[in-house]
Formats: sequence, C-alpha cells, structure tokens
Amino acid sequence: MNETTKRTVLVSGSTSGIGEAIATAFARDGATVVVNGRDQERTEAAAGRIRSATGHDGLLPVAADLGTAEGARTVFDAVPEVDVLVNNLGIFGATPFMEITDEEWHHYFEVNVLSGVRLARHYIPGMVRRGWGRVIFISSESSLMIPTEMVHYGMTKTAQISVSRGLAQTVAGSGVTVNTVLPGPTLTPGVETFIADRVGADLPFAEAEARFIAEERPTSLLRRLIRPEEVAGLVHYVGSDASSATTGATLRVDGGLIPMIIP
Ligand SMILES: NC(=O)c1ccc[n+]([C@@H]2O[C@H](COP(=O)([O-])OP(=O)(O)OC[C@H]3O[C@@H](n4cnc5c(N)ncnc54)[C@H](OP(=O)(O)O)[C@@H]3O)[C@@H](O)[C@H]2O)c1
Repeated sequence: MNETTKRTVLVSGSTSGIGEAIATAFARDGATVVVNGRDQERTEAAAGRIRSATGHDGLLPVAADLGTAEGARTVFDAVPEVDVLVNNLGIFGATPFMEITDEEWHHYFEVNVLSGVRLARHYIPGMVRRGWGRVIFISSESSLMIPTEMVHYGMTKTAQISVSRGLAQTVAGSGVTVNTVLPGPTLTPGVETFIADRVGADLPFAEAEARFIAEERPTSLLRRLIRPEEVAGLVHYVGSDASSATTGATLRVDGGLIPMIIP
C-alpha cells in the first residue's frame, strides 16, 4: 500500500457531472473516495458506477445536504478526517438580476460558498496536524466573467476564490495546499438542460452546443464544451503529491475562454 492508496478523498456533489469524474479519477489511485449528494439512492448509484468504471472497492457513499450545517455534521460523523477535500458541489440557474430574491441570494451563498467553508474549517486542522493535505475549490469562469443571466451564481464563484486564497495564506508552510480550479462550460447533465432551455430544446444537441458556444461563450478557444474528465485531470493533479509547490493559486481549465493572461 503506497501513500496515495492510504488517503481519503471527499468530493462534495459527486453523484453527477464534474464531481463524479473527479471522484472516478481519485478512485483509480486506490484512495478511499467519499461520494456525496443529497439523496441516498443517487449517491449509492454513483458509487456503483465509479466502482464499475474503476474496479475499485473503496467508495464510501454519504448522502447529506451540504448546503446546511446539519448536512455537514452528517458527513463529519461518517468521515471524521480527509486528506483531500474537493469542494465541488454547486448549483446554478438563470434568473434575471431584478428577479433574484433575498432568499435566493442567501440560498446560493449557503450552498455554493458556506458548504465549502464548513468542510474546510472541519478538515483542515487534521491535515495541518498530519503535515499534508489538499483543498480544492471548484469555481467557474463565471467568477471572472459574470454572466448577466446569473449574477448570484457569479458572486458565489468569485467568493470561492477569495476564501481559497485566504485559507492558503492561513495554512502557509504547513504542507497543506489550497487552490481554486476554474472550469469553463462543461458538458454535464445540468448544462445540457441549461443549453436546451437557452438555445432551443428542438435542436439536436451537437447543434445546440455549437450555437451556445458561438452565441453565448464566443471567447472559447476550444470551440466546444469541455468534458468532465478534462476538468478532473487538472483537479487530480492539484490533489496529488506532484502539485506540492502550487498553493493559493487559481488554475484555469476553461478552454481558453477567459480572455486574460492571468489567472
Ligand atoms: N458544468 C459546467 O459548465 C461548469 C462550469 C464551471 C464550473 N462548474 C462548477 O462545477 C461544479 C459541478 O458542476 P456540474 O455541472 O458538474 O453540476 P451537476 O452535474 O449539476 O452536479 C452537481 C452535484 O452537486 C450535488 N449537489 C447539489 N446540491 C447539493 C447539496 N446541497 N449538497 C450535496 N450535494 C449537492 C448534486 O447531487 P444531487 O443532485 O444528487 O444531490 C450533484 O452531484 C459546480 O460547483 C459548478 O459551479 C460547472
């Protein structure tokens, strides 16, 4: 058993999309991977898919709504310590700015930001004691290029970068790194529905994808949606020993969509 197989990796929101691809990548290492979503059946089903895809048995499904303190406690009881924490879960949806209610602002903050804050606050002290740990926030290109159709989502994704950088400074010199990964538009079930709603459900998906990128994300150099495995590749690297000199960083896997040199 090497160091990697002894590790415990928690990927929040790993019953679908990017989270499931990230959990799959760490399962291939032989680590114990905690699979999470709000629903017991979906969480177990995702763990089953990852087990079939990787042949790895060390999957621990933990159903809990991490947008609440109670849900976080359920996870802490089931998994007291982790070595790699991937704050992946996130909700998004289009609402015109003038129609976003106070409740919706609070809800987005609780689910997309406070979920990761609570998990980091609980798990980082153990990582520091052991002298090794990786915390990764999955933000979005929407943190820098705020979409007018979901300003509240953009706000949460920018906030994650701030929390991540502040945490990296807090644990400086401890062997624990904290970074943010910024995916660009990625083909996940939620995005498939989002695109169908925006550019027309009657189009074949390949055509809808091309039109969405051309009309709504025209700076993409990739000129297609990113695949979840492409995001997982970068996250897996950041969660490994190999990334030890990368901390406090914001790393892009956005298909060149953000028209800036830095970050
Ligand atoms: N897809 C994109 O284009 C894109 C681009 C940039 C950034 N991102 C970011 O990448 C992350 C993943 O996005 P995705 O598109 O892969 O999302 P997705 O397919 O909608 O999956 C979201 C995951 O989060 C879980 N989840 C949602 N609310 C939860 C809660 N309160 N507690 C626990 N789990 C919860 C869902 O599980 P259940 O439904 O089973 O509960 C699901 O596993 C998000 O942070 C998103 O902002 C996505």
